[in-house]
Amino acid sequence: MTSNGTGTHGATLKDTAPQEDAPVVELRGAGKSYGNIRALHGVDLAVRPRQVTCVLGDNGAGKSTLIKIISGLHQHTEGEFLVDGEAVRFTTPREALDKGIATVYQDLATVPLMPVWRNFFLGSEMTLGPWPVRRLDIARMKKTADDELRNMGIVLDDLDQPIGTLSGGQRQSVAIARAVYFGARVLILDEPTAALGVKQSGVVLKYIAAARDRGLGVIFITHNPHHAYMVGDHFSVLRLGTMELSADRGEVSLEELTNHMAGGAELAALKHELAQVRGVDVEELPEAEDLQAPVAASEETP
Ligand SMILES: Nc1ncnc2c1ncn2[C@@H]1O[C@H](COP(=O)(O)OP(=O)(O)OP(=O)(O)O)[C@@H](O)[C@H]1O
Ligand SMILES: [Mg+2]
Repeated sequence: MTSNGTGTHGATLKDTAPQEDAPVVELRGAGKSYGNIRALHGVDLAVRPRQVTCVLGDNGAGKSTLIKIISGLHQHTEGEFLVDGEAVRFTTPREALDKGIATVYQDLATVPLMPVWRNFFLGSEMTLGPWPVRRLDIARMKKTADDELRNMGIVLDDLDQPIGTLSGGQRQSVAIARAVYFGARVLILDEPTAALGVKQSGVVLKYIAAARDRGLGVIFITHNPHHAYMVGDHFSVLRLGTMELSADRGEVSLEELTNHMAGGAELAALKHELAQVRGVDVEELPEAEDLQAPVAASEETP
């Protein structure tokens, strides 16, 4: 179940995986230290086209550090980072973008008061006419944004409304459609559902699946194993900077994933502490989940 991922390089041609299945982005034993803080260590990850790779982990597990390496914000300090099988080291997010790696951050880089279509083209506006009389090609931008959003199944009443008036889920969806339109091959989403309710999360999950169906490799960062399991093809769980689980969908159940995320043993220990604080017996507390891990050794249970 746990892979240490580097794979074998078969010498014969027929052993090589079909090209379309080859990972676009790959980490091999990658790690990152900030000074003497080791945020990430020995991480293997392969992001393939037409797959949603979920990266799960608790606060401080190293999720953001991982995607910062892939999106060109930070550089790895150990191991290898490959794009299309070639070792790379990005120094700016622009270099990642040039390779088709687009990142949608949770605090979306949108201008709330500008219309939806304007935000769709922010920084890459379509223009008309030669310099110095060049002007924005508003009609074409509106039409294209409308077509692209519809292609992804996103129907908005009015593209002239300020993007700030859309719901969080809709704004995430527009950002996903934008990345698809501008030719992303890999789409990184950092906790896109974290601030959303159930319904809005469903909306975003739908477009994650739509991006996958359009052929993109999606890296979906989340705390939520249920959200991950709804769309994920592969699951990687980070804990304290190392990959503690790496499994394809067929190899892990939602229960196992939840348990890995919850940290079964840690939950049991927490329950003991809570019972002590409240002066009740552990058994009186409600069951959290079916804890498969043994109750952590407790020195002072009466
Ligand atoms: N720029 C930095 N300088 C020093 N330490 C850092 C820096 N960025 C992250 N860290 C440390 O690296 C570890 C991993 O942090 P990271 O932000 O990657 O975690 P995360 O999984 O994204 O957490 P969260 O769920 O809270 O967003 C943490 O211990 C954090 O304090
Ligand atoms: Mg983070």
